[in-house]
Amino acid sequence: MNFTGAHILSINQFQREDVDRVFAVADNMEPYALRKRVTRVLEGAILGNMFFEASTRTRVSFGSAFNLLGGEVRETAGFENSALVKGESLQDTARVLSGFSDVICMRHPQPGSVADFAAASRVPVLNGGDGANEHPTQALLDLYTIRKEMADKGRDIDGLSVAMIGDLRHGRTVHSLGKLLSLYKNIRVVLISPKELTLPDSIVESMRAAGVDVSISHELTQSIAAVDIVYSTRIQEERFSSKQEADLYRGKFRLNQAIYTQYCQPNTVIMHPLPRDSRADANELDSDLDDNPNLAIFRQTDNGVLVRMALFALVLNVADKVDDFAYEVRWYNARQNRITP
Ligand code: CP
Repeated sequence: MNFTGAHILSINQFQREDVDRVFAVADNMEPYALRKRVTRVLEGAILGNMFFEASTRTRVSFGSAFNLLGGEVRETAGFENSALVKGESLQDTARVLSGFSDVICMRHPQPGSVADFAAASRVPVLNGGDGANEHPTQALLDLYTIRKEMADKGRDIDGLSVAMIGDLRHGRTVHSLGKLLSLYKNIRVVLISPKELTLPDSIVESMRAAGVDVSISHELTQSIAAVDIVYSTRIQEERFSSKQEADLYRGKFRLNQAIYTQYCQPNTVIMHPLPRDSRADANELDSDLDDNPNLAIFRQTDNGVLVRMALFALVLNVADKVDDFAYEVRWYNARQNRITP
């Protein structure tokens, strides 16, 4: 894949060597993400950060990643603050915003909308989530986290067993992660969801065609007994016709420390793209797991900055120049040596 000037819209664009390239560049970003050093390699560049659907970590980590490379960020958050509410088309919005920006990140509730926007954009567009379709940068940061967590345990990505849990029908992060895991060898994936919320058949079929051993389950405890990673997800309430319909499924697959201790192998890594729904009727990852050293959810969010820095550096063709525009920080740095303890 030629990253320079490319749109990043789907995991379908990636081969294994492309993922290796992103991860190698992300590794090099660590001193900058930890504020041990500052780089100004993207000085003068502007990111248009366009989020037409709720977001905390994707929006802010894209912006932080761009700032950490020395660029400026301009944001729109929500339809109500954009001219889309006046009837402007996505294509016209793309034509306008790509005149202001050097790269654009976008989230939108309609599947395929970010690709439609990109087709009219004069600058690279990164998909920050298009409805229930895909969330490719989340999958990359998830796999980057898996790689780091398993390296600490002397393991590689090849040969891993992963349980994906929750609303697999609407969860765009598992759609993208399933595709990404398909690039690796001897992968086993257990899909745990209510019957009505299974992973789309097209993704299951493509994973199986790629050689992934996929099984489908509708119960939690026995299905998480022999996996290396449990990847829990939220019931995507915003994709249902009503809150009442989402309530039918909320809280069905709760993981807490007692269940983890009884059923999971020791050191099973616990992941979630976040936000986790911590309301009492959902509580999909209990807060009693917060002191479990295998809970990787906040390492995932920290790793997101590294991976998004890497994608910007690759798409804007500065990955090999980051250190040439660097200097030491002068302020007190509250961070410790690791990204997240
Ligand atoms: N994981 C994720 O997409 O989180 P946000 O919705 O907060 O961006």
